[in-house]
Amino acid sequence: MSASTQEAVHPALLDEHARVEHQLDEFSRWRADLCQLGQPRFGEMGVRLQQIRQLLADHFATEEEGGYLASALSVAPQFARRAEELQLQHREFLQQLDELIVRLTSSPAQFPTWSDACREFEAFLVSLREHEHAENEIVQSAFERDAGTAD
Ligand SMILES: [Fe+2]
Ligand SMILES: [Fe+2]
Repeated sequence: MSASTQEAVHPALLDEHARVEHQLDEFSRWRADLCQLGQPRFGEMGVRLQQIRQLLADHFATEEEGGYLASALSVAPQFARRAEELQLQHREFLQQLDELIVRLTSSPAQFPTWSDACREFEAFLVSLREHEHAENEIVQSAFERDAGTAD
């Protein structure tokens, strides 16, 4: 891969992740503040999750455009299997969100307690961050390997 291709592809994905992470931080703060209050706000949480869904649907589409992690895998094909697993998670995350949104916006909301809803929201954010972190690691490793083999 040429230096100019590296510059075009590598920072683009990391910049995109930084942008997504910034927005996830806001959702995370919102969740912590609201859940600490202990007042059930199922509908509001449903609206927030719809916003996350939109953010993620756009983000996943960006990642898959032109082949998921294609430039990283071209120099580090040993990550191909892991990349397949990660790509499958895109659909799973969106399905999970769709289910959560339906349960939050049903009347009454389909959660035993507000704490349960908060816990599920938090668990979702944790899984999502693990996914993003795993992608960063693949891209970073591929980039370092490529830089290491460049003359
Ligand atoms: Fe992803
Ligand atoms: Fe990502």
